[in-house]
Amino acid sequence: MPLVSMNEFLPKAKANRFAVGQFNMNNLEFAQAITEAAMEEKSPFIFGVSEGALKYMGIEYTVAIAEAAAKKSGLPIALHLDHGSNFDIAMKCIRAGFSSVMFDGSHHPFEENIRLTKEIVKAAHAMGVSVEGELGTIGGVEDDLSVDEADAALAKPEEAIRFYEETGVDALAIAVGTAHGMYKGEVKIHYDIIEAVASKIPVPIVLHGGSGVPDDMIRKSIQCGVGKINVNTENQVACTKTIREILGKDENVIDPRKYLAPARTAMKEVVKEKIRLFGSSNQA
Ligand code: 13P
Repeated sequence: MPLVSMNEFLPKAKANRFAVGQFNMNNLEFAQAITEAAMEEKSPFIFGVSEGALKYMGIEYTVAIAEAAAKKSGLPIALHLDHGSNFDIAMKCIRAGFSSVMFDGSHHPFEENIRLTKEIVKAAHAMGVSVEGELGTIGGVEDDLSVDEADAALAKPEEAIRFYEETGVDALAIAVGTAHGMYKGEVKIHYDIIEAVASKIPVPIVLHGGSGVPDDMIRKSIQCGVGKINVNTENQVACTKTIREILGKDENVIDPRKYLAPARTAMKEVVKEKIRLFGSSNQA
């Protein structure tokens, strides 16, 4: 199966109240772990690729790996640019074979965010590519993007509804209290904001910063209208912890396969659990 736009599965997720996971791809082992987990769970999923990951892997390798995963698995998989910062990077990804892009214009003034997002939606939709927009500022650190939690600003429902109406995005990320990275304190999710927006627009809300959010909060967010959830850090932690343990125990290990294979298995377990929690098993 070729890579698909998020519209292959997000409308069904919104209608049937489940969420599709965006699992970030950082290298081949991440891609394999995510794909194998989804195959066992028969779940659609989204490969999220940040601009940093794109630089690290190279755009050709990124697309080839995602296409191989789609071909091997037969699952509906979207290859999605995560937090794209401008029109050019979004177009570069689409030309290279991405089936979905996020434009994160949340640091621009509201009207400017609408104008820039609209341009990308127009071009992307003409090519059958889905678009995610963002409103409000999500705290935490991701790649080179760092937002102090104190500066993270929650989305205003009436602005979010207008943003959707003017831009026509296929999924809308709004800041509702989650943050990228692991949480130091308690997470507080503003379900009222999710509900107020989700009940007025036909597309799902995207929850960024899915790592470390307690299961009951994830379930409640989905009931309120979240249909896409992003997870990266928990896989990074599982991967690195496994490698650290193996190398710490035996300094004679030199074959990368000896620590990358167990790291991949650890990530696969994380992804399987998330897929079950999000309710997307058997939805492929
Ligand atoms: P976490 O790294 O906190 O899981 O967040 C991932 C994310 O939101 C990617 O956009």
